[in-house]
Amino acid sequence: AQAYELYGVHQPGIVTPVQDRLHFASFDVTTDSRAALVGLLREWTDAAARMMHGAGAGPAGPTSGDYDAPPDDTGEAIGLPPSRLTLTFGFGASLFDDRFGLSGKRPAALEPLPHFPGDNLSPERSHGDLCVQACADDPQVAVHAIRNLARIGFGTVALRWSQLGFGKTSTTTRDEATPRNLFGFKDGTMNVKSADREALGEHVWVGKDSDQPWMTDGSYLVARRISMTIEIWDRQPMREQERVVGRTKAEGAPLSGGAEHDQPDFARTGREDAPLVDPAAHVAIAHPDHNDGVRMLRRGYNFVDGSNDLGRMDAGLFFLAYVVDPRTHFTPVQMRLSTLDAMQEYVQHTGSGLFAIPPGVRKGEYVGQGLFS
Ligand code: HEM
Repeated sequence: AQAYELYGVHQPGIVTPVQDRLHFASFDVTTDSRAALVGLLREWTDAAARMMHGAGAGPAGPTSGDYDAPPDDTGEAIGLPPSRLTLTFGFGASLFDDRFGLSGKRPAALEPLPHFPGDNLSPERSHGDLCVQACADDPQVAVHAIRNLARIGFGTVALRWSQLGFGKTSTTTRDEATPRNLFGFKDGTMNVKSADREALGEHVWVGKDSDQPWMTDGSYLVARRISMTIEIWDRQPMREQERVVGRTKAEGAPLSGGAEHDQPDFARTGREDAPLVDPAAHVAIAHPDHNDGVRMLRRGYNFVDGSNDLGRMDAGLFFLAYVVDPRTHFTPVQMRLSTLDAMQEYVQHTGSGLFAIPPGVRKGEYVGQGLFS
């Protein structure tokens, strides 16, 4: 029944211990009125603060408002605990145009991601003016939050795309067991954790040196819908599965030896002097030692969106990563992965979004206020 606070230096839902479920939504603003956009962010902020405490989205609540008006909360969360709900808001590059007079406020880091080899992005699952990440331990609580924000936004924003996730694929605390992705491997072992203050300052939070001061204490969110061909994966020998990841399936230990949290030794060789961790293994390609030391705070979720007419599951990993600057901390890593990673044979990126995540909200203010002042 634990509840988190909306207000703080940083937005919730980033270093917050990862909840079990996700509902992520991307919206387009349908009005040209800057005042309407600001009004919406104010209303969203109030509703978010209430819902994170387990209350209704509006002040009257689901059942005690005016009998002749639609309720200011839809009701499906009545009786449910807050379920550690967090709501995290972001701004896409398309918001920073002349419609709202924001073109001079666009951070340089928000430049569109390049096309990566192998990308098969669907426009209906990409981009958007605004995003909201709702995470909670109860899927009904996460969906209720997005639904009510969409309801409040009626006439100002339209839902562009959304993604449900079950099963976290990362942790942000050291004391939790590492969860598993749909390849069956532990995921998030080497993630940036909430206790790594130094790493957060270096790799996740935007500092005071940003070209846009309103982004200080914010971050950038990269969202990638990554389809996984799990039926093909499931026919691979264990040897191949472990080679692709570079870690053991049982414990998640590096193939070069040691335990789960030991660093891989890429120089260590085995029979016939072959490296124990294949240089094309996912952990080798993504490792900070091979990427100018960059790290990211991963916070993704497993998804299964039904199945297709060949009887295959539409399954994958909805990758979410918070970084200080996608130009240094995502694009070069993803460029390496999309060209060199052995895992590339079993995955395809089918959706993409990049959002500026403004800093946390101070009491009495609204989310992203610095952008408009
Ligand atoms: C590590 C799976 C996509 C970046 C890992 C690990 C697994 C994994 C099993 C090892 C355990 C760990 O340290 O977390 C996957 C799967 C993916 C995927 C199944 C897609 C379906 C990506 C993408 C990126 C990425 C798109 C970034 C562009 C990383 C990083 C590490 C990692 C930085 C940690 C490397 C280290 O420090 O050792 N991933 N990953 N992964 N992955 Fe991925």
